[in-house]
Amino acid sequence: MTILDGKKTSNDLKDEIAIEVAKRKSEGKKIPHLAAILVGTDGASMTYVNSKVKSCEKVGFNSTLIDLPEDTTEEQLLNEIEDLNKDKDIDGFIVQLPLPKQIDAQKVLMAVDPNKDVDGFHPVNVGKMTLDLPTFLPATPYGIMELLERYKVETSGKNVVVIGRSHIVGRPMSILLSQKRPVGNATVTITHSRTKNLEKITKEADIIVAALGKAEFLTGDMVKEGVTIIDVGITRVKDDSKRRGYRLAGDVDFESVSKKAAFITPVPGGVGPMTIAMLLKNTLLACENRD
Ligand code: GUN
Repeated sequence: MTILDGKKTSNDLKDEIAIEVAKRKSEGKKIPHLAAILVGTDGASMTYVNSKVKSCEKVGFNSTLIDLPEDTTEEQLLNEIEDLNKDKDIDGFIVQLPLPKQIDAQKVLMAVDPNKDVDGFHPVNVGKMTLDLPTFLPATPYGIMELLERYKVETSGKNVVVIGRSHIVGRPMSILLSQKRPVGNATVTITHSRTKNLEKITKEADIIVAALGKAEFLTGDMVKEGVTIIDVGITRVKDDSKRRGYRLAGDVDFESVSKKAAFITPVPGGVGPMTIAMLLKNTLLACENRD
């Protein structure tokens, strides 16, 4: 069993990006600048956004964090987005999801300039991705593809089962892995809460991407010997033995599934850090596109 080490791989990627940034600096080119908007005080979102900002510093990017209160109106958020769209120094920006219920997330994502949409969530960029045209790929699926590529996990002709049809992970993952690309050419099945006999389907899978958001949902009896497991889940589970009062759990029961897996991502230290590294890669690309 091989651990797909997202922490190490993301650090390799960040080192590569840092070299590019240093090169740009020495050539007198613009330093990439990423901005992030965080609305409210959701604990997990705060952790993610802070981690994104810290990673910017690590690779030599400039970063801006825009922290808005929980009761921010849709109009106020749209105004902030318009400011970032116009700001010539900002190469790319993200609006951290989920958003408070008074705000229509789809409307917000559509307000982002597609050229600065480093999350790849704007319909124009989703369309380009679907048509296999150059664009910003959504960071989590992009990170998973990078992990599979660097560990040389074969995808061509393999049965991939994606659990979860979210717009930010399951759906784009299913599209990308079915495409004619180096990490692709797979036969993809996308499953969700209405899927019947899920266990029968997962048992046939060569690769499983678990992205449904239910702690330790996928168990050893649901997979075949030699399977590759990508665990996208990261849920806070109450645990009084921990100082912070919770532990982080993936969508996969690591204990039982790892016994049968050929490759598996841990939680934490698997997909999570890769997502951040790919966001940085997209920001570098956004900056290069403007050269
Ligand atoms: N919330 C969970 N994942 C993501 C992501 O990749 N980008 C943004 N903006 N919000 C998220």
